[in-house]
Amino acid sequence: MASYFTINISSPNTPGLRALQTRAALDELLGRLAEARDALPAEGLVPMFLKVAPDLADGEAEAITDCVVAHGLSGIIVSNTTVSRPALKSRFRDEAGGLSGAPLTGLSTMMLGRFAEIAQGRVTLIGVGGIGSGAEAYAKIRAGASAVQLYSALVFEGPGLVGRIKRELAERLRADGFRALGEAVGAN
Ligand SMILES: Cc1cc2nc3c(=O)[nH]c(=O)nc-3n(C[C@H](O)[C@H](O)[C@H](O)COP(=O)(O)O)c2cc1C
Repeated sequence: MASYFTINISSPNTPGLRALQTRAALDELLGRLAEARDALPAEGLVPMFLKVAPDLADGEAEAITDCVVAHGLSGIIVSNTTVSRPALKSRFRDEAGGLSGAPLTGLSTMMLGRFAEIAQGRVTLIGVGGIGSGAEAYAKIRAGASAVQLYSALVFEGPGLVGRIKRELAERLRADGFRALGEAVGAN
C-alpha cells in the first residue's frame, strides 16, 4: 500500500530513539532492515528512507550517509523536529520536546545542504522542516531535495496549501529558467 517506508529514528519524543543515529547502532538497524527487504519478492520492494534529526554532531552526517549508501537504502529525509530553540520567542520555549514549523526552516535547510554536499548524488534527499510557501519549498529543492514534505503549515492553512505551494514553485522555476523541477535539485 505504501509508496515508501520511513525509518524514523529522529523523534525527540521517544527516549533513547535518537541514539540509533550513532554509527554502530545504525549499522546494525539498517543491516537487519536490508536483510528483511532483500528477502521480499522483487514486486514487494518498496523504497526505504532514513529520517534524521537536524541536531547532529560533527561527523554524524558523514557516518549516516555512508551507512545509508552501504545498506542500499533509497535516501535520507532531512529533517525531523529539533530539540534546539532557534529564534524562538515563545514563552513555551523552555518546554521539552521537538520544535517544528517556521523556527525550524533555516536549521533544517542548512542540514539538508550539508547532506547534499556529503552525498554527492549517492542517495536521494527529501527536504522537510518549516515549509509553508513555494519559496521555502524551492529553497529545499535548490539545497538538494528531490521532494519535500509538509506537516506544521498544514495545521494553519489546510490542504489548499499544497496547491498554493505548487503554483508558487512553478513561478519560481520559470523565473530562474528551469524547465523541470529536477533541473533545480541541488542548484546551490
Ligand atoms: C506532532 C508531530 C508528530 C510527528 N510524527 C512523526 C512521525 O510519526 N514520523 C515522522 O517521520 N515524522 C514525524 N514528525 C515530524 C514531521 O514529519 C516533520 O519532519 C517535522 O514536523 C518538520 O516539518 P514541519 O516544520 O513541516 O512540521 C512529527 C511532527 C510533529 C510536530
